[in-house]
Parts: sequence; C-alpha cells; structure tokens
Amino acid sequence: MKRYWKIAVLANIKDENQTKPEGVPPDAFADFDHIETVDAIRAALETDGHSTIFIQADRDLPFALREAQPDICFNIAEGLGGDAREAQTPALLEMLGIPYTGSRVLTNGISLDKTLTKRIWRDRKLPVAPFQEFTAGDEPLRPELKFPLFVKPAREGTGMGVDMKAIVKNEKELSERALYIINVYQQPALVETFLPGREFTVGILGRADSKLYSRHPEWYEKDGFHRFPVLELDTSRSVTPWVYSNEAKSKDVGADGSPGYFCPADIEPELEKKLKHLALRAHQLLNALDISRTDIRLDEDANPRLIEINTLPGLTPNYSDLCLQAQSEDIRYEDLALDILYLGASRWGMLEPREHASEALKKK
Ligand SMILES: Nc1ncnc2c1ncn2[C@@H]1O[C@H](COP(=O)(O)OP(=O)(O)OP(=O)(O)O)[C@@H](O)[C@H]1O
Ligand SMILES: [Mg+2]
Repeated sequence: MKRYWKIAVLANIKDENQTKPEGVPPDAFADFDHIETVDAIRAALETDGHSTIFIQADRDLPFALREAQPDICFNIAEGLGGDAREAQTPALLEMLGIPYTGSRVLTNGISLDKTLTKRIWRDRKLPVAPFQEFTAGDEPLRPELKFPLFVKPAREGTGMGVDMKAIVKNEKELSERALYIINVYQQPALVETFLPGREFTVGILGRADSKLYSRHPEWYEKDGFHRFPVLELDTSRSVTPWVYSNEAKSKDVGADGSPGYFCPADIEPELEKKLKHLALRAHQLLNALDISRTDIRLDEDANPRLIEINTLPGLTPNYSDLCLQAQSEDIRYEDLALDILYLGASRWGMLEPREHASEALKKK
C-alpha cells in the first residue's frame, strides 16, 4: 500500500479584489476560506511526508481533478450556489471515484439545511427550539412560537444573514425580516424561538474504529470518539450583543468587538457532559463522518437546545472555533489535520489498521 500520497486540498477561496456579482447578499461568500488556511492545511499534511496541491472548487474542478489525479482530497469546499452547495464537491468526487475526507454527500447537503437538520433531531427527541420555516414571508405564525423570535437564512453559514435585526419582537418585524431573508438570500427563512442563554460549541472527532487509524489513539474514548473541550462564546460583549453574527465572526480573536472565547468553558460537569452528549448524538443522527462542530444555546430555563451542526467546520489556525478547542487541550494543528486525513483515507481502503492501535485496543 502506498505510504505517501498526493493530496489535493479543495476549497473555495475568497477573492477580496473581486467585485460581487449583482443580486447577491451583502455578505455573500463570507464562508469562503482565505488561502492562508489552505496553506496551513497543506503544510500540516506535508509534515507526514505527503505532497499536496491546492485546487479551487469552482466550475473547473472536474477538469483540474482529472489532470492532477490526486490519491485523496482534503475537502473544505463550501460550494457554489444551489440548495446544497456543501454537497457539491463530495458529489463530484463520488462520481469520479476519488477518495476524500469528512462527511459525504447526503450529510453535507442536509446539515447545510438547518430546517431539515432540526426535523431529524426533533424526530429523535433531541432538544431544539420550536421552529417554523417561512417560504412566503406572510405565513400565519404557529402558536408555539412566542416572541421574541430569531430569523435566519435556512441554508447559510458563518453568520451570513445574521445580525441584530435577526431578533424580532412582533409580527411586523417578523414578516419584514422573513421577507428580507427570502428575497435577498433566495431561500427560506428559519424562524425560531429566541434562545436567551449562554452559547456553546462542541467539536467531535472520530468514529467507532478511530483508534485503528489514528496517529493518536489516546485521544479517543472507548466509543471511538473524541469530544473537544466545550468552547463558550460570550456574545454579550461582541459588536452584535448576544448574537454571534457574521460581523462578530469576522473579528480576530481578542480584537475589539469580537465575542469572548472561553475554552474549556467554565461550566458544571453535568452541563459539560450534557453538551458533549448532545453534540455526539447530533453528529451521529446526521451520519456525519470524522469531524463536526455543533452549536448549542441555553433556553430561558437554562436547558441546552441544539442550534445547528457544521460538518465542514472552519479550520483556520488560531481563529476557527474548532482550532481554538483543539489548542486548549494542546492538540497540535498538524496532528488534527492528519487525523482528519487518516480517518478519511481509511474509509477508502487506503490504510492498514495500525499495529500499535490494535495492540492498544486488545488491552481494553
Ligand atoms: N434560536 C436562536 N436564538 C438565539 N440566537 C440564535 C438562534 N439561532 C442562532 N442564533 C445566533 O446566531 C448565530 C448564528 O446562527 P447559526 O449558528 O445557526 O448560523 P451559522 O451562520 O450557520 O453559523 P456557523 O458560522 O457556525 O456556520 C448563533 O451562533 C447564535 O449566536
Ligand atoms: Mg453556527
């Protein structure tokens, strides 16, 4: 079996100089990556002897892949347009038969859609805030939804379409905001009960047999999963108080107007256990693979409610929530990226189970 691979990092890169096409929202492409993130991932993968290239995940991707012939792709591509853009690159790779990291097509499609995701969680009794999807803007509000409400695009990320006006206090504000989202973002508006409590995000790494393929089997618990330390976002002091908006997310950690980041969060062990359990169940119910980050907020009775799951969590060193979580327990960025790679590769038959890991497992 080949030991060193040619790895293509696939991403959609922000072009700060490019003028935005007409008709796109003001924060369009906010979830695209900077080339520095791609460079960091490439450098991390190269530390274990692999060679890497970057391929932009745009319309030329199919041709670039055929030319480059990578052994495997490290996928962080957000995709371009449509109703399931995060599923586009995985779908193409499936079609071409090229191995790739992380979650597959269906999961990336569903997790981008917060309404569908919440329906799945609610069906399995995971706690979510009451919600309703608006596709016209003037739908009658269901009685279980009480003001204040929170209105956001059903299928975006990185706080796109989320600012202080997302909190609506009456019917008039609700229909105005819902119409704004529907028209500007060209997608349904998700209306939820406003969750006034503390905000957390929890990363999950691994799967049942992680120890067989990881370079760090000691990270993983008996069930094969690693739960990163809980990160609390103190949004109260951010540029958009109580809301982890696109504007708040784009500030550097510690900069003026950024939220407070606390990791590990200062919480009771019981709440910590609950949050980690919920994040893992959220991950499993969506069939997420290897890596995800789930956002959770407390309701008015201080009960956790799942907000959403990110199956392509940001991987910018010293900046992305997941990287801050890893850092807080001294997991090196290089090791994190390599474990995502090897867990992914093992699913495509590219790795033998590791001797040392099998030994460790036998002892359990
Ligand atoms: N029901 C709610 N009640 C209160 N605040 C909410 C609610 N839903 C979302 N928010 C706030 O808006 C932020 C962004 O929402 P959400 O996590 O759904 O969007 P996102 O853009 O997909 O985020 P990400 O950058 O994690 O992909 C949350 O982090 C939270 O601060
Ligand atoms: Mg979020």
